[in-house]
Amino acid sequence: MKNVLVIGSTGQIGSELTMKLRREIPEGNIVAGYIPGAEPKGVLLESGPSEIADVRDGQQLSSIVDRYKIDTIYNLAALLSAVAEKKPLLAWDIQMNGLLNILEVAREKGCAVFTPSSIGSFGPETPKVNTPQDTIQRPRSMYGVTKVATELLSDYYYHKYGVDTRSVRFPGLISNVTLPGGGTTDYAVEIYYAAVKGEEFVCPIAAGTFMDMMYMPDALKAAVEIMHADPSRLIHRNSFNVASMSFDPEILAAKIRSRIPEFRMRYEVDPMREEIAQSWPDKLDDSCARAEWDWAPSYDLDSMTDDMIVSLRKKFGIE
Ligand code: SER
Repeated sequence: MKNVLVIGSTGQIGSELTMKLRREIPEGNIVAGYIPGAEPKGVLLESGPSEIADVRDGQQLSSIVDRYKIDTIYNLAALLSAVAEKKPLLAWDIQMNGLLNILEVAREKGCAVFTPSSIGSFGPETPKVNTPQDTIQRPRSMYGVTKVATELLSDYYYHKYGVDTRSVRFPGLISNVTLPGGGTTDYAVEIYYAAVKGEEFVCPIAAGTFMDMMYMPDALKAAVEIMHADPSRLIHRNSFNVASMSFDPEILAAKIRSRIPEFRMRYEVDPMREEIAQSWPDKLDDSCARAEWDWAPSYDLDSMTDDMIVSLRKKFGIE
């Protein structure tokens, strides 16, 4: 991995992954791909090249790959679960037609491709606790449908054409640089922003609804390490369960309250998000990732909470 195109570089994952890759591969071209209306700013703009990279335009992707001699594509373009329910056709267009364009470019030009899957690729019939790597995947949300299809299409391109596709199923990602946009797990990010700002948090997910979550540094580590993994050890490719913590809103609120005692939360459950959350696993089994490429997360709920509070206080200039 030397010259990398990050599609969706201004989103929640992309904004941090692009910077990590630029730090780790200073000799490479790490191109920040974006769509008009979501332009890179500040350090993301200044620290390396950026290009309009709309997944729906294969020609555009192909010319970026040529110009920068791209060998690896991180495809982070997606509508998250709640937004995708409101705009299912657009979600399909971006997630599926977009992926097909990327895989075709990768096939022609010999690029490796990472397209994340998600806990959203599972559904109500999936075993909820210690969800196995290989199990029932019958999601009911459009987001989930596109994620299962992403896994299948990525494996298809690997088996049929030898395209080096690899991926992980991300849990809800908690971060403090760029907010997520329209996911079911967003509450676990927004709760920290409210707590640090001294605001009451109105929780859209019900008490007792557990989901897998992960702190962004671990998610970035997974995204990079899977692409560096020794291919001879990989039994799976698209896509690996990865896990680090699982909690419901009560556990998260109590953890924040142990650091910020005056923090207040009340519930106003959003039926659409709650239904999606209920259909997802409580806790994934990530033993295949641990066995095949030595995956191991660094953060638990305690260390993440400490780091989130310190980082957000700094971000908002709060002592
Ligand atoms: N974080 C995503 C969402 O909530 C799931 O992968 O949509």
